[in-house]
Amino acid sequence: MKRSYTKENCQSCSSRLIIVPFIMEGKNAAAREIQRCFSNHPGSIQQLQNFEGRFKDILNLEADGGKTVLIPGLGKSPDVRKWREAIAKSITLAANRKFSSVNIYLDDLNERSVSACVEGATLGLYRFNRYKSKSNTPSLAQLKIGTVQQNASNALGSKLVKAASAEADAVNFCRDLVNEPANQLGVTEMIELARDLSKQHQLRCKVTSGQMLSKKGFGLIHAVGKGAAVPPALVELTYTPEKMSGKKIALVGKGVVFDAGGLCLKPAASMINMKTDMAGAAVVLSIMGALRTLNCEHEVTAYVPLAENAIGKDAMRPGDVYKSYLGKTVEIVNTDAEGRLLLADALALAQTRDHDEIIDFATLTGACSVALGKKRGAVFSDNQKMLSRWLDAAQKAGELVWPLPLASELENEIKGEVADLKNCGDRFGGTISAALFLKQFTDASKWVHFDIAGPARNAAASVLCPKGGTGFMVLTILRYLQSK
Ligand code: BES
Ligand code: MN
Ligand code: ZN
Repeated sequence: MKRSYTKENCQSCSSRLIIVPFIMEGKNAAAREIQRCFSNHPGSIQQLQNFEGRFKDILNLEADGGKTVLIPGLGKSPDVRKWREAIAKSITLAANRKFSSVNIYLDDLNERSVSACVEGATLGLYRFNRYKSKSNTPSLAQLKIGTVQQNASNALGSKLVKAASAEADAVNFCRDLVNEPANQLGVTEMIELARDLSKQHQLRCKVTSGQMLSKKGFGLIHAVGKGAAVPPALVELTYTPEKMSGKKIALVGKGVVFDAGGLCLKPAASMINMKTDMAGAAVVLSIMGALRTLNCEHEVTAYVPLAENAIGKDAMRPGDVYKSYLGKTVEIVNTDAEGRLLLADALALAQTRDHDEIIDFATLTGACSVALGKKRGAVFSDNQKMLSRWLDAAQKAGELVWPLPLASELENEIKGEVADLKNCGDRFGGTISAALFLKQFTDASKWVHFDIAGPARNAAASVLCPKGGTGFMVLTILRYLQSK
């Protein structure tokens, strides 16, 4: 779908369908202006005048020249989530009714509403149908966004639409990666993908894999992947801005291409969606692919440990002890607690480099969904400043996260008996003890951890996302990187 800013006015625009968002008790300048398109349709004027603009209500109006106008209600002082959802619903309606081009009119040009329109449309029309022989999915050829604001700047309009498009495309790119089955997107293909990204966007790329991992001291990444047919790997990608004016940020993403649980095999019902277990890696790689277009001012390095947690004659066993990159030894208690092992080595490497901030994203624990439900991620940090900036970014992005404590009373859970540490404790506070394990491998004063085990995937389709990968956290990270 081509998305652009338009100077066309609503009367002369070429689209046969026009969308005008309507805020309850708002100014609604665009909705007033649209009445010019109703000179032969007094009934439409009447309906619009009676419209309250309640969230989820959509007015469908006939306009001059055989055009249709949709007026989605946003409710009173709507947040970004409501904006996006209302737009997605109207756009889907338009696409289902086979309109190929749509114009949206806004009261004025501002980042919030332009992003909401572009994101609502782009995310709402996303489908994953590569493997269907036949599919009739709703789509639009083009979306034009305009405003009734006098002397709105062309340059600003185009800039806002372009940036929002890059952001929304990054979310859909991430959804594709998560939705790809593990036999299509395994460790080998993930490495290829990272290499492609590095060529496309001038990123520095380094891959360490197989025996080289254990040789270089990444004993935990190596242990997790050694039961699988394809050896594990650690991918590093670095984006350097044209003019360096920001921070040096490390993004770490869990990349378990399939989590069968290892010798501590998962039951079938828990294994079914485990191709999703590379969502952290998918998020981080999607970000790396968007930074150049968005002109990010920070230097950003991605650390992506990749492995399949499989059963095999070489698979790590409960009771085994492995040495981490940091030097601490770890006793394996449960081979299904593999994500923290991968991340531990990646975090330890990041810590040896010159980063101002280190942030990781992982589908780490089922316990996180037990605590917060499947639609909300957990965020952990001892750095209150970073934590509040991340919460702020999530709020702006309209993504749901909630802080949980790095509770020192649970530290005993991961104290080792045979080795320095063990890779899991009992199930109470399981998401916290997993975070505490990670904390042992990084400089906690500049570290933030996100557990996205629940929201990385949608259990049922919604207006903004079909069942499957959600791209959760992509928008939050991009908002965060735009702040200083
Ligand atoms: N990948 C899983 C966590 C997960 C569960 C993600 C459900 C998405 C949905 C992780 O590797 C895992 O298996 N965690 C175990 C930890 C336990 C063995 C301490 C879990 O959550 O059961
Ligand atoms: Mn697991
Ligand atoms: Zn896992």
